[in-house]
Amino acid sequence: MGVNYNPFSLEGKTILVTGASSGIGQACAVEASKMGANVIVCGRNQERLAQTMALMEGTGNTSFEGDLLDQEVIERLVAEVPPLDGVVLSAGRGLTLPIKFSTREKFDDIFNINFFSPVELLRLLTKKKKLNQNCSVVMIVSIGGNYIHSVGNSIYGTSKAALKSMVNFAAMELAPQKIRVNGICPGMVNTPLINRGTLTEEQFKADMERYPLKRYGEPNDIAYGAVYLLSDASSWVTGTSLIIDGGVTAK
Ligand SMILES: NC(=O)c1ccc[n+]([C@@H]2O[C@H](COP(=O)([O-])OP(=O)(O)OC[C@H]3O[C@@H](n4cnc5c(N)ncnc54)[C@H](OP(=O)(O)O)[C@@H]3O)[C@@H](O)[C@H]2O)c1
Repeated sequence: MGVNYNPFSLEGKTILVTGASSGIGQACAVEASKMGANVIVCGRNQERLAQTMALMEGTGNTSFEGDLLDQEVIERLVAEVPPLDGVVLSAGRGLTLPIKFSTREKFDDIFNINFFSPVELLRLLTKKKKLNQNCSVVMIVSIGGNYIHSVGNSIYGTSKAALKSMVNFAAMELAPQKIRVNGICPGMVNTPLINRGTLTEEQFKADMERYPLKRYGEPNDIAYGAVYLLSDASSWVTGTSLIIDGGVTAK
């Protein structure tokens, strides 16, 4: 016991993080490395991926650049990664659009990256036996579409509702192999995704007032939850989605 006691350690684990070139995925990658994991960071933007690499600790980290909308890229990623003890699926996009403009094309744009791409990656990782026993998969979901249904958020929200449902199906199906699958449902987190250009600073401040803890989240608020779900401390946790939202859905 004492300073070295750490049930949340990720020492010795190999963890893949998508969306690691920005925001929540980047924070998950950096924190996982600080907790002792070897991390494979994945993203499209080479420069920002390199920034993530520079922020990480340890010598066993690698990066993979590619567009997860491309089936060949997903196949190459699955072929290249070593057997994994953890996966964080954070790559995703936001979109706000009234229903009258929500064409099938717009749904496809968002569903392809927010739902079909993580599902396909999980499918191939399991098919190619790249998930070790006791592996933990963490999908970054959202309170949007699951607990909150704000105007203009139907495409994004339904993609996240489908993903949250998939967390539970995958958890049930992979439990016999002792692979755990959980989600995290963040509230508004300060990342490029929330696109501060769309609202005035006053409007953002007013929105933050709705949060009982009176602020939006920071990427690390989500990363610390991911560390818990990736660690053996959560070895009896599967098929859940952890709400991390400053209390906004508890109101
Ligand atoms: N921020 C929030 O308020 C919030 C709330 C709830 C849920 N979430 C979810 O959290 C996840 C991360 O969001 P974030 O806020 O961290 O956003 P972000 O800072 O914009 O990061 C999005 C990440 O996804 C990657 N990505 C997007 N399209 C991709 C593609 N086609 N192929 C490969 N990678 C792709 C981006 O890579 P490149 O930059 O390299 O292109 C980037 O690393 C998303 O799933 C989002 O829906 C966010």
